[in-house]
Amino acid sequence: MANRTDFPPGFVWGAATAAYQVEGAVTADGRGPSIWDTYAHTPGRIADGSTGDVADDHYRLFAEDIRLLADLGLKAYRFSIAWPRIIPAGSGPTNAPGLAFYRRLAETCLQHGVTPFATLYHWDLPQPLEDAGGWMVRDTAERFRDYAAVAHDGLSDVITHWMTLNEPWCSALNGYGDGALAPGRNEGVNALKAVHHLLLAHGLALEAIRSPEGSYGIALNLAPVRAASDSPADRDAARRVDGLQNRLFLEPILFGKYPADVLDDTGMTAWFAEQEDDLPLISAPLDYLGVNYYFPTTVAGPDGPVSDPSKPSAQPGSENVVAVDTGLPRTQMGWPIQAGGLRDILVTINEQAPSLPLYITENGSAFPDSVTADGTIEDDDRQRYLEQHIEVVRQIVADGLPLMGYFVWSLLDNFEWALGFSRRFGIVHVDYATQTRTVKDSGRWLQRFLTQ
Ligand code: FCB
Repeated sequence: MANRTDFPPGFVWGAATAAYQVEGAVTADGRGPSIWDTYAHTPGRIADGSTGDVADDHYRLFAEDIRLLADLGLKAYRFSIAWPRIIPAGSGPTNAPGLAFYRRLAETCLQHGVTPFATLYHWDLPQPLEDAGGWMVRDTAERFRDYAAVAHDGLSDVITHWMTLNEPWCSALNGYGDGALAPGRNEGVNALKAVHHLLLAHGLALEAIRSPEGSYGIALNLAPVRAASDSPADRDAARRVDGLQNRLFLEPILFGKYPADVLDDTGMTAWFAEQEDDLPLISAPLDYLGVNYYFPTTVAGPDGPVSDPSKPSAQPGSENVVAVDTGLPRTQMGWPIQAGGLRDILVTINEQAPSLPLYITENGSAFPDSVTADGTIEDDDRQRYLEQHIEVVRQIVADGLPLMGYFVWSLLDNFEWALGFSRRFGIVHVDYATQTRTVKDSGRWLQRFLTQ
């Protein structure tokens, strides 16, 4: 079992959250509406009918939450900056109170010896930009560049670690593919245009904000994709899903090219050829790559045709490829648990970009936990999940991969997007009725690991 002293002294241990999932206060101090306000308030979109209007009230309770994070022995806080707090209409005037909030948050981190890691976009696009086409149009990328410059200019004296985007796969392929996340559109293979505009936004922002004092990256959700069998159909299914999930993001960012087979599968080759001039910007060197890892995927080819464009899907062009149950234990999300998958994906990235520093910017699990009579939260399954994954992190570091840190998702139970408050990922329990925070047993375990 991993021990704290197995890790180099500079290894970063942190916890992560995202603005819409924790902040609440959606109309406070000039914040504008985002696509998540609209989506959550649309009947039928959120499993439990909830919204992020209040969430964890982190907007007001952030100082308490950061103190808690520091008490657990964590030394870094990954949060996201809400674009609609900084530029409420998406473009146009800056909202000074929005910047002031993140300044207070970052300063509170620094006072507790916690390094702030800011993500500029964790899915909360200002609604007026969606009304103008959202990530389906190029202009949104340019507006993101402007917003990133304002946020960075206003905060770079207190924040040095920046991430442009969180999980553009989800923004594009859930947002505009299967519609499972805001804005909930079904654009078929055209969702790949959103992928390109998001990556362009990343490149434009990076160019606008990069400075020698800072450290700049992006957080991608990556996962090993395996074929259910050696059959040509299953191997082809794995190629397709790996293409959409991993290579469609890694190859433009690392090598300045899109995977030809994915463009071919989706019939998007001609459109992407017209965007080729953007690739040098998209592939500008990163200071680090953030990897969000939750689970590996095993897929099989369908018996019939691979594609059915009439079906809303997060794997456009390969709509009928199916995920296969390999018998692994699962979390409450239904996600298979396999810590070794983390190693597989990091090894794959490292083979392609041997000197690129890596962070695990999210890793964690949802399980139903309840508060016992004496007020403790016995979340053995979450603790085991953390133990297993941190043991793999130890092995990865011991093998000499340039892995710089690990962020647990999440510091707090929070609004889990379309699943509302029905899934708890926190190492700290939140009673949503009273906003009481209680460290779960998994959080106590992490605290012992980090401090003893
Ligand atoms: C990731 C998201 C994060 C959280 C976890 C469970 O995809 O980045 O906000 O919802 O999943």
